[in-house]
Amino acid sequence: MSFPVEFRKNLSAVKPYVPGKPIEDLERELGIQNASKIASNENPLGPSPKVIQALEKALPKIHRYPDGGAYNLSQALARHLEVEAGRLLLGHGSNELIVRLGQMVLNPGDEVLYGDPGFFVYSSTALLCEAVPRPQPLRDFTHDLKVFDRALNHKTKVVYIANPNNPTGTMISLSDIEAFLKSCPPHVLVVLDEAYYEYVDDPVYFESLKLLPQYPNFVVLRTFSKAFGLAGLRVGYGVAHPELVGVFNKIREPFNVNGLGLVAAEAALADLSHVKKVADLNKAMRRKLFHGLNRLGLKPAPTQANFVYFEVPNANDLYQLLLKKGIIVRPMGPGALRVTTGTEPETANFLKTFEEILSQ
Ligand SMILES: Cc1ncc(COP(=O)(O)O)c(C=O)c1O
Repeated sequence: MSFPVEFRKNLSAVKPYVPGKPIEDLERELGIQNASKIASNENPLGPSPKVIQALEKALPKIHRYPDGGAYNLSQALARHLEVEAGRLLLGHGSNELIVRLGQMVLNPGDEVLYGDPGFFVYSSTALLCEAVPRPQPLRDFTHDLKVFDRALNHKTKVVYIANPNNPTGTMISLSDIEAFLKSCPPHVLVVLDEAYYEYVDDPVYFESLKLLPQYPNFVVLRTFSKAFGLAGLRVGYGVAHPELVGVFNKIREPFNVNGLGLVAAEAALADLSHVKKVADLNKAMRRKLFHGLNRLGLKPAPTQANFVYFEVPNANDLYQLLLKKGIIVRPMGPGALRVTTGTEPETANFLKTFEEILSQ
């Protein structure tokens, strides 16, 4: 008998998120133990050793509920970012914040703008909220906010801008964002998703938080999943108008950030030298990947993140051939691959293997 209760109609259009293939699956399939996963923009160095120490100390307390108000982490973040603690949103990854922001403001029929190709969760959030996803084409793999500007209309309610963008890794400048905010009507929530913030080294990028006091409809999201190395613990944050924070705190789950996540994020913030080490390695590896792919005749997008995106005519075949060699990358539709920076040996092994595959 089929399931008797009718699901909400809008859910029929929602597709499940397809994550990178788990490394354990490939190792089991190939009977090997040293597969390489450069598919999910994870940090190959992992978290700071100080995070591990803090977690070991916190483990005996996991029978307790976490601090639902996240006092210690909020105070540490407020100091780190130089913003008032009352402007902070804390989420189960920044993913939760992307979804909740949509749930907070979208009514059926509202429109949601985001770059295409872009992060999957923007469109699924729109569909979840019975809103209309309006993907906007990138220009040279990069957001063109003039295109977004022209797409704005009275139904537009949310604009998600990933900067750097996932999957292309490209970045736009703070002045582009400020110009967009200036022309955008104030009833539109503009969500700047800076998940890869710590990896950027272009000086025209920085200081988005300075725009917050002037634009109450502006929200900046960041995460501990990437450069801080805490993807498995799910801690993200946002900075927003205090009134928006108040509404978020009404609708989030009471203990949306888990106890180990809170402890780990606070310890991670206290060791910024580790983040620098991670960002330095990433910079060297993305340069290596970029130039290595160039040498193979490919044209990767100019990335400021921890991954490289490039178009290839037979992405799925190449993905399968790499899997057979124990390397997991991410096909992005039929015509592109996204490869995360790994350790030095992982990156070198990918380039060597990929060259061999292409030459066959
Ligand atoms: C652009 C972008 N935003 C948000 C996220 C979500 O990250 P998390 O929920 O781990 O903070 C990701 C993860 O890949 C991403 O690429």
